[in-house]
Amino acid sequence: MMGPAWWAVLVLLAMADAVAGRFVVEKNSVQVTSPESLKGKYECAIGNFGLPQYGGTLQGWVVYPKDNRQACKEFDVSFKGHKSGARPNFVLIDRGECFFTTKAWNAQLAGAAAILVVDSKDEPLITMDNPEDTGTKHLENITIPSVLITKKLGEDLKKSAENGDMVSVLLDWRESLPHPDERVEYEFWTNSNDECGPKCDMQMDFVKSFRGTAQVLEQKGYTQFTPHYITWYCPEAFTVSKQCKSQCINHGRYCAPDPEQDFSKGYDGKDVVVQNLHQVCVFKVANDTGKPWLWWDYVHDFAIRCPMKEKKYTHECASHVIKSLGLDMDKINKCVGDPEADEENPILKAEQDAQIGHGKRGDVTILPTLVVNNRQYRGKLDKGAVLKAICSGFEETTEPAICLSEDVQTNECLENHGGCWVDKANNVTACKDTFRGRVCECPIVKGVKFVGDGYTNCEASGVGRCEINNGGCWKETKNGKTISACSHEESEGCKCPQGFKGDGVKSCEGTLSLFRNLLLHDLNTKFGLSPS
Ligand SMILES: *[C@@H]1O[C@H](CO)[C@@H](O)[C@H](O)[C@H]1NC(C)=O
Ligand SMILES: *[C@@H]1O[C@H](CO)[C@@H](O)[C@H](O)[C@H]1NC(C)=O
Ligand SMILES: *[C@@H]1O[C@H](CO)[C@@H](O)[C@H](O)[C@H]1NC(C)=O
Repeated sequence: MMGPAWWAVLVLLAMADAVAGRFVVEKNSVQVTSPESLKGKYECAIGNFGLPQYGGTLQGWVVYPKDNRQACKEFDVSFKGHKSGARPNFVLIDRGECFFTTKAWNAQLAGAAAILVVDSKDEPLITMDNPEDTGTKHLENITIPSVLITKKLGEDLKKSAENGDMVSVLLDWRESLPHPDERVEYEFWTNSNDECGPKCDMQMDFVKSFRGTAQVLEQKGYTQFTPHYITWYCPEAFTVSKQCKSQCINHGRYCAPDPEQDFSKGYDGKDVVVQNLHQVCVFKVANDTGKPWLWWDYVHDFAIRCPMKEKKYTHECASHVIKSLGLDMDKINKCVGDPEADEENPILKAEQDAQIGHGKRGDVTILPTLVVNNRQYRGKLDKGAVLKAICSGFEETTEPAICLSEDVQTNECLENHGGCWVDKANNVTACKDTFRGRVCECPIVKGVKFVGDGYTNCEASGVGRCEINNGGCWKETKNGKTISACSHEESEGCKCPQGFKGDGVKSCEGTLSLFRNLLLHDLNTKFGLSPS
């Protein structure tokens, strides 16, 4: 086991360039509508957790609690509006002492509709982020928006509230993202590593829940989506070190940290880079054939079919998924190139260059990161919140209907059964279209339940399975009479009838006389006759 020091070896291109490197604080505005003396519009910074209301506004009263002003403990008062339909309350909270996410959680528990965190110093606005490891247990459950306001505005609002003024504000996210035209361009910076704890789980949950929506938007031409992957590099002096060799491909040019942070076991960083590269190539090849949305299926299916836990995070498993989606494996292999070669990979080189910010977009240094119309999205990667952000990126009146309703269907099963298991002879498939995109789930046909992984196999099970394709067993028809190896006892599977020899699946062999005897026996039984 190596100490953490070796970590420092890998370098993020965006970080190395200290001069150009910059992080952009994404903002919304807060408009004070009363008291008169504070009326006006002020900037605030969107917290990177909870659900911001991109494209929308939220009006409420500002409450400054008497105790627990940093909201590090649970409140013993309620901030719920007294009547239903009453304007909600926003809680003014002092920065410091505990995580921003703890403050938001405590305020939410007490019924607050949003929090305004007051900075403790005079400084330009900062982005309130979630802590890396601890505190994540509430993270996924924070559903109120959070904003940071300047110390000056905070002091003014507090004074007013303590004077007994009714302080009313409008939180406004309508201008948080540019909305120049009728198409939204967005990017998702992600990672194929599925073993990084809550962050990886949340990332995958997002892909699962947003996939169907993303595909419909893309198919109808409303959006142009591009996935991206962060890669690190190994400084030249270290390229032959053990660390860089296990974390990097192409002689130290493209690296990823070891998934378990222990390169003596499990998968190495270089496995992650290779799988990331497969994902970029899947996008590229799918995009070149006019079906960029297949990336969502690939990433979704790969996570389910090729998890690290089951030791299936491999090229072979990736190939199965690629083939099931009907993508050209040769083109993908060509795009992936030779990871051992001492040369640049044009695809990964482009990914590294894209990490550096341009225009109004800052460098990408947090994973995952969503970029909408060249601005970074802040907040939880929640299907509804992200859809709102994308919807707010359309020029007004050009939004697709999905921005007004959530009624969508993907119809992906129409083509190639969505890459799911299919029994063409019997016209049975595991593909099902749902609002969340297609799923591969073994079906129930005429009361017979199929079981299996839904991708490569489904088998009829239970009573009645012999009715479907003879339960996958051998059968033969002679003189209008059928003899079958499908046993009605499911545990027996396929079993040749008595006197016949064979595996029961492909063949059962018996002499003609046996066959005849069996028929005779059947006939006798049928007519109530007994041979003995
Ligand atoms: C978060 O919400 C989920 C689903 O409602 C629940 O199962 C879980 O216990 C919650 N976690 C916390 C820390 O409240
Ligand atoms: C995807 O295809 C579109 C349309 O052909 C093209 O404009 C875009 O640049 C492509 N994206 C990538 C990353 O290749
Ligand atoms: C196969 O089943 C689908 C859905 O049940 C049906 O729409 C289609 O017509 C069938 N195709 C054939 C060849 O029977």
